[in-house]
Amino acid sequence: MAWIVGVCHPSASAAGPTSTDAPSDAAGSLPEKGYRLLRTKPFLPADFDQEIFDALPEIWDEPLRSQAAKATPEERRRMTMERYGLTPSPEDPSQPLQYVVGADGSWTMSCLACHQGQVAGQAIPGVPNSTYALETLTEDVRLTKVRQRKPLGHMDLGMLMLPLGTSAGTTNAVVFGLALMHHRDRDLNLLNKPPRFDLPHHDMDAPAWWLGAKKKRIYIDGFAPSNHRMLMQFLLVKENGPERFREWEDDFRAIEAWIESLKPPAWPGEINASLAEEGRVVFEHHCSACHGTYADSGDTYPERMVPIEEIGTDRVRFDALNAQNRQDLIESWFGFYGESDGLTTPEGYVAPPLDGIWATAPYLHNGSVPTLWHLLHPAERPVVWKRTPTGYDQERVGLEVDTFDALPVSRMPQAERRRHFDTSKPGKSAVGHDYPDLLDEEEKRAVLEYLKTL
Ligand code: HEC
Ligand code: HEC
Repeated sequence: MAWIVGVCHPSASAAGPTSTDAPSDAAGSLPEKGYRLLRTKPFLPADFDQEIFDALPEIWDEPLRSQAAKATPEERRRMTMERYGLTPSPEDPSQPLQYVVGADGSWTMSCLACHQGQVAGQAIPGVPNSTYALETLTEDVRLTKVRQRKPLGHMDLGMLMLPLGTSAGTTNAVVFGLALMHHRDRDLNLLNKPPRFDLPHHDMDAPAWWLGAKKKRIYIDGFAPSNHRMLMQFLLVKENGPERFREWEDDFRAIEAWIESLKPPAWPGEINASLAEEGRVVFEHHCSACHGTYADSGDTYPERMVPIEEIGTDRVRFDALNAQNRQDLIESWFGFYGESDGLTTPEGYVAPPLDGIWATAPYLHNGSVPTLWHLLHPAERPVVWKRTPTGYDQERVGLEVDTFDALPVSRMPQAERRRHFDTSKPGKSAVGHDYPDLLDEEEKRAVLEYLKTL
């Protein structure tokens, strides 16, 4: 889309995904090192190999399978990446930003799988991956491994135990952490316990990484202290023993430095300055107490926790962790054995900073609201919506979507069903955060314009 070509990349100096500049010196700064580690160092066992990736289209449903068979290798690769929500790397389009591809052809999921996506086809450093189809990818990989008589890996088996993400762009990531932490003591030694079967599965939309610099505590319920060790929970597979975490600590200091160096992207389109100025006044009256203020002279951010009954958004995430789960994490090696500042009983969800909010659709912690216009019109949020692969809605500010009153009844392959976000499903509700109802239509129009400037 031509519209977004001029997007500005304030973080390109820290070697983000769109930077084509070689680092100024061989060693590079700490943030540059962090980005390089994310792109090149596998911290988990490999998920699959190149031969499997190349063969994935052979098991697709028709007519896709025939279309892929007739396509050129480049076109087939593009179709494959698009199906699974992967973004071709600007340096080498045969590799995605989200996986570390080794010289031996191994593909290993990285943090960027969920934390690096694109907006209107353009990778912006730290923008969440709102297209990642982890469950569909894992399902197709498992079938292909069986066909190629290759052993199943940790994701293939994990998928038999728990859902990975029932709609594209969101994942059951919080429950992965819960399931894995169940098998560790506070020093991260492995415990031999039967797995939990009572896990509260629910999907989440990853937050933008550039917000990290404003937060003292992380996650939507703001319970975990923000530090480099917390970032390492994703590595808790049994193949990584407790010594690995100590060994990789410095790597995660660098990764944390990259995350903290990221800046929100500027809205690449036109802005109606006088309308935005009206919007600022309305915003400061109705929204700033929770979301802070944004000014050239400096921002304020209250990191305000809103009780769950008051915010009224989907509460499955809130109920998914109990005080014991939170305490186990805070008092483990990840939380410096309780020395850092965590909360075992948060009251609800923390109002996030809204920097770069135009680029991080869909909205709310579960990714249930496709555009800022829908966020500002609670009664008009769609029950079911399906995005176009890379379309951007400049009017409503967010994803370009088709909307439905219910999931279309026709029989659909699973992969296609997961492209529909169904807010009637548990954990996926789009209700709540009714504060915009206090605004009239003219004020909403002004606030929408103002939100583009953040
Ligand atoms: C499978 C998807 C997935 C992967 C892989 C993943 N994350 Fe996340 N991450 C999430 C989700 C979802 C959240 C939001 C969780 C919440 O708020 O409860 C999150 C939250 C975070 C946050 C807190 C952001 C905030 O503002 O509250 C940080 C920092 C983070 N992840 C870093 C990492 C790092 C570093 C890695 C790799 C070691 C990683 N993540 C791997 C999905 C993922
Ligand atoms: C009482 C506190 C409070 C007020 C007032 C408030 N919000 Fe929020 N807002 C929140 C919380 C908490 C969330 C996170 C809810 C969730 O994800 O479930 C949120 C989420 C959002 C989001 C989605 C953020 C994202 O990354 O998905 C936007 C946009 C937003 N608010 C805009 C506004 C605007 C505009 C106003 C004023 C009309 C406003 N809010 C008023 C507390 C508030």
